[in-house]
Amino acid sequence: MSNQLYQQIQKFYDDSSLLWEGIWGEHMHHGYYGEDGQSKINRRQAQIDLIEELLSWSDVHTSKNAPQKILDVGCGIGGSTLYLTQKFSQTVTNAHGITLSPVQASRATERAEEMNLGQKIKFEVANALEMPFADNSFDLVWSLESGEHMPDKGKFLQECYRVLKPGGKLILATWCHRPTNFPPGELTIEERTHLEKIYQVYCLPYVISLPEYENITRECGFNNICSDDWSKAVAPFWNVVIDSAITPQAVIGLLKAGLPTINAALSLPLMSKGYGMGLIRFGVICAIK
Ligand SMILES: C[S@@+](CC[C@H](N)C(=O)[O-])C[C@H]1O[C@@H](n2cnc3c(N)ncnc32)[C@H](O)[C@@H]1O
Repeated sequence: MSNQLYQQIQKFYDDSSLLWEGIWGEHMHHGYYGEDGQSKINRRQAQIDLIEELLSWSDVHTSKNAPQKILDVGCGIGGSTLYLTQKFSQTVTNAHGITLSPVQASRATERAEEMNLGQKIKFEVANALEMPFADNSFDLVWSLESGEHMPDKGKFLQECYRVLKPGGKLILATWCHRPTNFPPGELTIEERTHLEKIYQVYCLPYVISLPEYENITRECGFNNICSDDWSKAVAPFWNVVIDSAITPQAVIGLLKAGLPTINAALSLPLMSKGYGMGLIRFGVICAIK
């Protein structure tokens, strides 16, 4: 099951990443539209704001607590890796990004070289569930919207814990479903059906709720765990993406990228509907090893 899933994820990102970059740029994640989702800012700025909000919420925004060694788990084409390395240029000695997609790894490497950061940053194809890094290697493990792809959330977080140095920080933002531990309780058939459609289109094995992520994080041994639900702040993103997908450049690109990418584009409303139903949640976690 996992091998098939990994192949699907690889193909999905191999086929769609350059199209995404051409239309929407290097960040393959939600934008942040203010706490209440009402800020009228452009999409790219909203994506940068999401990174900045995560850093300030996690207290990684001053030179005192800036990281030296960063790991970006599920790095896409290196949007966050490069941003963080530039932002913390005084302290970062090296950064690594891992992805399942060879196309993404090579484009990310090319981008690092274009920005003269090739010496400091290394991108590679590697599985987050079996990371090719020694124990206690990084000060900051950053995972922006990759957790939803992981077929074993426990193993994923254990690996993040293993490669962090003692005292190092995990910052994770991921797609979740609503909590089920208080009313209205378990997911309904309609909600499960809706999730299944999202799983199929975006190559996700399953998602879990934020309280479940918190429990797993605790079981792995993390301390000082903070979590929050930023759904309201990020939900407007999908309507912005839908509007910008209806351009000749995007349509031609989609046709070239093939069926899974076309399906993903046609299914963009599934996510905005999921947020509207209160089913899809955007969970953020910060924790210390
Ligand atoms: C939505 S993209 C996010 C990319 C990037 N974090 C960003 O925000 O621009 C999801 C990323 O997770 C990666 N990914 C999914 N499953 C993975 C796994 N098991 N190991 C490593 N990377 C994985 C994909 O290859 C892809 O790069």
